[in-house]
Amino acid sequence: MQIKSICCIGAGYVGGPTMSVIAKKCPEVRVTVVDINEARIDAWNDKNYNSLPVFEPGLAEIVAEVRGENLFFSTKVDKAIEEADMIFISVNTPTKTYGKGKGMAADLKYIELCARQIAKVAKRDKIVVEKSTLPVRTASAIKDILDNTGNGVQFQILSNPEFLAEGTAIQDLLNPDRVLIGGDISNKKGEEAINALVEIYGKWVPKEKILTTNVWSSELSKLTANAFLAQRVSSINAMSEICEKTGADIYEVSRAIGMDSRIGSKFLNASVGFGGSCFQKDILNLVYIAKSYGLNEVADYWEQVIIMNDHQKNRFSDNIVSTLYNTVSGKKIAFLGWAFKKNTNDTRESAAIKVADNLLSEQANLAIYDPKVKEKQIYFDIENLESRPISENKKYLKVFEDPYKAMENTHGIAILTEWDEFKEYDWEKVYQQMNKPAFLFDGRGILDKKEMERIGFVYYKIGLGDESNTSLK
Ligand code: UDX
Ligand code: ADP
Repeated sequence: MQIKSICCIGAGYVGGPTMSVIAKKCPEVRVTVVDINEARIDAWNDKNYNSLPVFEPGLAEIVAEVRGENLFFSTKVDKAIEEADMIFISVNTPTKTYGKGKGMAADLKYIELCARQIAKVAKRDKIVVEKSTLPVRTASAIKDILDNTGNGVQFQILSNPEFLAEGTAIQDLLNPDRVLIGGDISNKKGEEAINALVEIYGKWVPKEKILTTNVWSSELSKLTANAFLAQRVSSINAMSEICEKTGADIYEVSRAIGMDSRIGSKFLNASVGFGGSCFQKDILNLVYIAKSYGLNEVADYWEQVIIMNDHQKNRFSDNIVSTLYNTVSGKKIAFLGWAFKKNTNDTRESAAIKVADNLLSEQANLAIYDPKVKEKQIYFDIENLESRPISENKKYLKVFEDPYKAMENTHGIAILTEWDEFKEYDWEKVYQQMNKPAFLFDGRGILDKKEMERIGFVYYKIGLGDESNTSLK
């Protein structure tokens, strides 16, 4: 079976970059990315490549190369479904905000709507690929809908979870550690569908890196990978707090344990807390699945990763308040960074949002600067904070395009995202413009303590204790 036409439903952080790379690597395949959000599709079609809705290093160059050749962005969902041999479902699966499983289970309503739309429109056999992260056994629900409401055509369902990380999405897509394809290996049609997708990835990914499994293993592997990664961040963050109390240095500890080949050196950066659309959502989903099978100890075990992450964000803002003489009311505090990590404009679940909420509760004035996040997005993110209604909070939170203006006349600066440019700032100049004592709270550990102290800052670095703790008394 040779795939000539692909449709991807959902033009977000996953669908957009993934399809751009498939289109680049498979020039003979026509790839159409559809979305119901017209503004988003317009942005993907924008002549100015700086206006694409997703910022990812290397993405704009690929879109410039293939858009209009074999990559198309459109709102005509039905047409694209009808024309496609293979349909990727890449829509969002947020945590449920209502009903059973509220705050934990994944909300599958967008997935179900997609399945129903595919069933309604399809007039010939199709392969449907789950790309979004889904709870185990979602594929059977999709199959049920397709088989029972369709036009009598045959559907093969594959699970092909996405492992790309934002900020490095293009590199991750071009050189993946592995590609995982789950399908119905028990019948010939299922095997053919798997092979068709293997052929697509095989255009640029070595065959030994393409794993095929049953559908349930594939779905669960995605949740497991994210749970393990998030657990590593919470583990190192837990140790960062011990370091601060004991005088140990989390950066030395990370290096020392990372050299153990069983542990490995990646993903050991202490931080103000992990964010992003996946980690929290997937762990909550895992906790929900465990609970629904009565596996309460398993559920409690994974839930602790989230509890630790919430604690890390809260203790960062608590430290700002207590250091600034127990009050930040009326004081100006600058945030460097709002995105959940560097090299992305995505802010979903960003630690900055929770830290802002906590400081706004304490009546601080916040000055926000992020190199890639737009003001509109920041105001959107503070719409439903616990501290105050947005109409009030907007008076206390201002967004700046110039970082030096943001940091002018502040009582404190907090680094929330590890953007490289922050390391290059003229920190002497920043210091001159601040109220004294000038407090600097480095939630990403990117600046040099000695240098900052030489300039005159009172500098707090996550995971570094008071120097007085380090002497052998
Ligand atoms: C994650 C997974 O890595 C990816 O495989 C999956 O497809 C989607 O979820 P993403 O959320 O885009 O990717 O970014 P990731 O690099 O995993 O970072 C997640 C969060 O953890 C960020 O807030 C990041 O700053 C934080 N983090 C990561 C740390 O605080 N310390 C680390 O050492 C690594
Ligand atoms: P992700 O990070 O998983 O890519 P995003 O929220 O960035 O998530 O993107 C998901 C996209 O899916 C959104 O742009 C949303 O408009 C789109 N979407 C959701 N439901 C449908 C649907 N039924 N048809 C088309 N697009 C949809």
